[in-house]
Amino acid sequence: LEAVGFRRKLMNWYRSHARELPWRGISDPYRTWVSEVMLQQTRVAAVIEHYENFLRRFPTIVALALASEAEVLAVWSGLGYYRRARMLHKAAQFIVRERGGVLPGTAAELRTLPGIGEYTSAAIASIAFGESIAVVDGNVERVLLRLTGRAEMATAAGRAFVQTQAAALVPRKKVDERGNAAGDHNQAMMELGATICLPRAPLCLHCPVYSMCRTRGEHVTPPRAVQKSR
Ligand code: ADE
Repeated sequence: LEAVGFRRKLMNWYRSHARELPWRGISDPYRTWVSEVMLQQTRVAAVIEHYENFLRRFPTIVALALASEAEVLAVWSGLGYYRRARMLHKAAQFIVRERGGVLPGTAAELRTLPGIGEYTSAAIASIAFGESIAVVDGNVERVLLRLTGRAEMATAAGRAFVQTQAAALVPRKKVDERGNAAGDHNQAMMELGATICLPRAPLCLHCPVYSMCRTRGEHVTPPRAVQKSR
């Protein structure tokens, strides 16, 4: 894939077609963190319903840390996978106790916190802090396997291949003339998978990178590569 042309097409599309979501265009890393944890294993519509309410009740890391676990779980209610809420709460307590309430600003440091794995650390670091690091979730994986014509790579090697491709496409610059280059690029990749490069029936004729896709128009569903925990 030719990275410069790919990024230009992707970003032009994203700037005119992205959904307006409550966690886009914000500048509070805590909010980015909450949104990315909620978005794991949960539909966007369900997250929208709970995100604002959660942040109204726990507007800062300190407010979250000071709450009881029972309260946090009650406000999380409806989102499921309650382990995520417990980890978020524990991480908030750790950050207040050990880091003066400040979320670390790099993916490497974020990864040391409870409940923050490879995906979430890369998402927060790029979206909230502009770090040039690729985010790979199930959507991005599907997009890249299709683009490169490697849809059959449902293996650990496929996972490594996808990671390498994703890393090669992320802009190196922290910010460009339009803002947060890496964060917007990562969100655009996820958005492409969520709205165009759909698992069963991709909308290839609406795809901004149709001309660069090795499997365009073949409505194939690549098997998932081996999933790592997030
Ligand atoms: N899925 C998870 N996080 C996302 C984001 N920031 N944008 C689009 N889709 C996502």
